[in-house]
Amino acid sequence: MRERVTAWRSSGERVALVATMGNLHRGHLALVREARAVADRVVASLFVNPLQFSPGEDLDAYPRTLAEDRRQLAGVGCDLLFTPTPDVVYPRGQAAHTRVEVPGLSDILCGASRPGHFVGVATVVCKLLNMVQPDVALFGEKDFQQLLVIRRMVADLDMPIEIRAVATLREADGLAMSSRNGYLSADERARAPALYQALTQAAKALHEGQSVESVEHAARAMISASGLEPDYVSVRAASDLRAAETSVLDTEAWVILAAAYLGRARLIDNLSVNRART
Ligand code: PAF
Repeated sequence: MRERVTAWRSSGERVALVATMGNLHRGHLALVREARAVADRVVASLFVNPLQFSPGEDLDAYPRTLAEDRRQLAGVGCDLLFTPTPDVVYPRGQAAHTRVEVPGLSDILCGASRPGHFVGVATVVCKLLNMVQPDVALFGEKDFQQLLVIRRMVADLDMPIEIRAVATLREADGLAMSSRNGYLSADERARAPALYQALTQAAKALHEGQSVESVEHAARAMISASGLEPDYVSVRAASDLRAAETSVLDTEAWVILAAAYLGRARLIDNLSVNRART
């Protein structure tokens, strides 16, 4: 893989990386399409990273669909698929491996509910970037906190790689595409769009000048009323996930993030809030 990428780059071709855990959906394929648009060559990686799963999470159940993933990637013009195994990524075992931690961004929101998750993400993404050595790497905005963790890591560690965000792809009813949506029963799938609906309502209410506290409270209530168990709903600065200090938002870019449990799935989503009152 490194030889192929080095040859491409030394002949002046720009190389993009799309890192995945497989079980691909149209959101992943949108990342590959965007990668094709901004680079000459596209490498996709497929690695179900054990280090980012907490004990008791769905590591073993996580769907492995390599043949289908490979077919889909070929269909959208991926040049090279890199599928390392855990013994390649963590040769001395994951407990003995060097870790990358991004303080401040890792223990809040999803990091509070999934201790160690973002250390696992930062570590594996750092390794994948070093292994592949792309010019640009693309990540979905659905995992907004992950995107900020990766941006901060790349800046702090002076990695000469552009990080590009790609907009969340949604089903027709608004549900953000996710590999974990496959865990939902028909009844749960019918309830799941409530998360996005709550975010849409919340963004509208903030835009109208309602207070952050009341909007977060109403969104939680709306999520619960639909039979989902809210984990968090929080309005944060889009640049660094700082909590809103004033109750009515100013002109800075803000984002409302939410997570909720539904059956076997933990769903996350977010929506940007441009500004409140002028
Ligand atoms: O978003 C994901 O699928 C994973 O967290 C990533 C970035 C591939 C790291 O394992």
